[in-house]
Amino acid sequence: MSKSIPQAVRERAAALREQLHHHNYLYYVLDAPEIPDSEYDRMLRELQALEADHPDLMTADSPTQRVGASPVKEFAEVRHQIPMLSLANAFADEEVEDFDRRARERLGVDQIQYCAEPKLDGLAISLVYENGVLVRGATRGDGSSGEEVTQNVRTIGTIPLKLSGTNIPKILEVRGEVIMSRSGFVQLNEQQRQQDEKVFANPRNAAAGSLRQLDSRITARRPLEFYCYGIGQVEGVVLPQTHFEILQGLKDWGLRLNPEVGEVTGVDGCLEYYRGMQNRRDGLDYDIDGVVYKVNSIAQQETLGFVSRAPRWAVAHKFPAQEEMTELLGVDWQVGRTGKLTPVARLKPVFVGGVTVSNATLHNLDEIERKDVRVGDTVIVRRAGDVIPEVVSSVNSKRPSHTKHIHLPKVCPVCGSEVVRLEGEADARCSGGLYCEAQRKEAIKHFASRRAMDIEGLGDKLVEQLVDQKLVHDLADIYYLKLEQVAALDRMAEKSAQNLLDALDKSKQTTLERFIFALGIRQVGEATARSLAHYFGNLNDVMAASEEALIDVADVGPIVAESIFRFFREPHNQSVIKKLIQAGILWEDIEVKPITELPLAGKTFVLTGTLSSLSRDEAKAKLLALGAKVSGSVSAKTDYVVVGVEPGSKADKAAQLGVSVLSEDEFLTVLGGQADQS
Ligand code: IVH
Repeated sequence: MSKSIPQAVRERAAALREQLHHHNYLYYVLDAPEIPDSEYDRMLRELQALEADHPDLMTADSPTQRVGASPVKEFAEVRHQIPMLSLANAFADEEVEDFDRRARERLGVDQIQYCAEPKLDGLAISLVYENGVLVRGATRGDGSSGEEVTQNVRTIGTIPLKLSGTNIPKILEVRGEVIMSRSGFVQLNEQQRQQDEKVFANPRNAAAGSLRQLDSRITARRPLEFYCYGIGQVEGVVLPQTHFEILQGLKDWGLRLNPEVGEVTGVDGCLEYYRGMQNRRDGLDYDIDGVVYKVNSIAQQETLGFVSRAPRWAVAHKFPAQEEMTELLGVDWQVGRTGKLTPVARLKPVFVGGVTVSNATLHNLDEIERKDVRVGDTVIVRRAGDVIPEVVSSVNSKRPSHTKHIHLPKVCPVCGSEVVRLEGEADARCSGGLYCEAQRKEAIKHFASRRAMDIEGLGDKLVEQLVDQKLVHDLADIYYLKLEQVAALDRMAEKSAQNLLDALDKSKQTTLERFIFALGIRQVGEATARSLAHYFGNLNDVMAASEEALIDVADVGPIVAESIFRFFREPHNQSVIKKLIQAGILWEDIEVKPITELPLAGKTFVLTGTLSSLSRDEAKAKLLALGAKVSGSVSAKTDYVVVGVEPGSKADKAAQLGVSVLSEDEFLTVLGGQADQS
């Protein structure tokens, strides 16, 4: 009988088994997956299909028979009294319909009540409570046995060490997911980067890596969380009749239940829940990769039972994969407004996160090196929510013999100017400034944008054309365009051209802060532009200001001050500004009181500790607006030290020097009182 299986099929099955074993090991044991889950699922499904067609292919050690891989040896091994199973996956609606139909047929009912839950993207954990006390925490491992991580789980705040409430069972095994929130993940990686430690690829890896620390003190510092989704072994209590009620019971005992969990009716209810979660997904602070439907009635669950690795009463309905594999065909360098060069991967088109992606960002050269990405590599592309698609990593095991290293170009691909990368900076820049067409285009787009000069109708496409056709060389040229020049452009006619000229005319009446913002000075956003306008009151004084004078402006530090100072020293920028003003741009100057007339003129303040009612920057801005100076260190020249919560040594220094100390309340009174006078 086995002879009837073609050799090619036999070899394919063996190869798949081999690869799945390898990737299982990387994923479960080393926490270092090399391929996206979607690729793993695909291989597993292919093997499942082969085994279904040719049952003789099935081997005792086939990955389709197992739930994971064996645990690493450092932690004690724990056998699960009841195996921790996996879930069957469904990707399309039809697969969910099939699942529901099969379950209905087996149960002989018309409609099934389900418990619907988010499928949390973390790692499964088993918690054993004896007489209400947490005595053991274990990872799922291969499903039959996992690793004992009791000390580690005890450090997770959302896991109760002791159950609360009444009717506590003699033994209760709670199962659920340990996750890391997105915000916690971002913070952790930031910290890891600062300390030159390994950064994690995603919250799931971070959660797994954190939970499986041999030193639980490290785990304790990681932002891990837990949500329960089921039970294992139970003794000494009669449980409710539905899964949903059991979960409510767990909640009453103090376990954390995900607020999205709910009851739905029939397959329609399931699919509606799925769409709802899909819409809410981006707004959640944790990753989910789908939803899970579980037959709600425990009696029905028992009737349905299990098949090899998964229950017949539950299914995971996965969202379209957010990570996929594809080939890196090449790298283009894109030049931004400030000249920043961004490497953009050109990819063999791949369907990921619901759209076809053929370009993805590689961020910068450091990231390329860290991820060891080369042209010709198979890479993992991620597209999550509305975020720009990015290359996450290369897949080492798929590297062909000929790959090309990625180098920073020596000259700007757009204008040929030298590319510079300053010591210690991740980004490289084109040094061409506004000579560079790419930078010029971006500068004009910014200038015309709604929050800058608000030139209606001057969109990206039009700017590109104007620069490409050499009609516009600098920002000011847009105000000197002639009707016939504009009308001759693509997708333009006399009427639309006239509209643009009208819009240009209209934009000339503006405000000083908009104008400063529109100039596109590096580091100068809207808030800084506003501060500059209000501090100096007119453009000449901003242009003439020394770096020291600039630092006195609210939210301007030394780096921003240097950038502003340099911008106005550049002859090209000076002449463009002159030309803009000649074109008729005008605003009303702002009347500023000479500093000496301001209520806190001549007073120097130092801020230390955390203030509860306003941030350090806000406090500084308020003081500067009242004419005070704000200094970073206490000296004999300091007039007041404002002391918040957990003040540093500056408070001691103030005491030593006999400088007046203000509490937050006293400080607010000073600000309030002065503000009233001004
Ligand atoms: S129930 C027998 N519910 O998905 C049912 N699992 O593919 C066992 N997971 O190992 C699991 N969210 O790590 C269940 N609401 C949820 C889940 C969930 C995430 C994970 C869990 C499990 C894997 C199964």
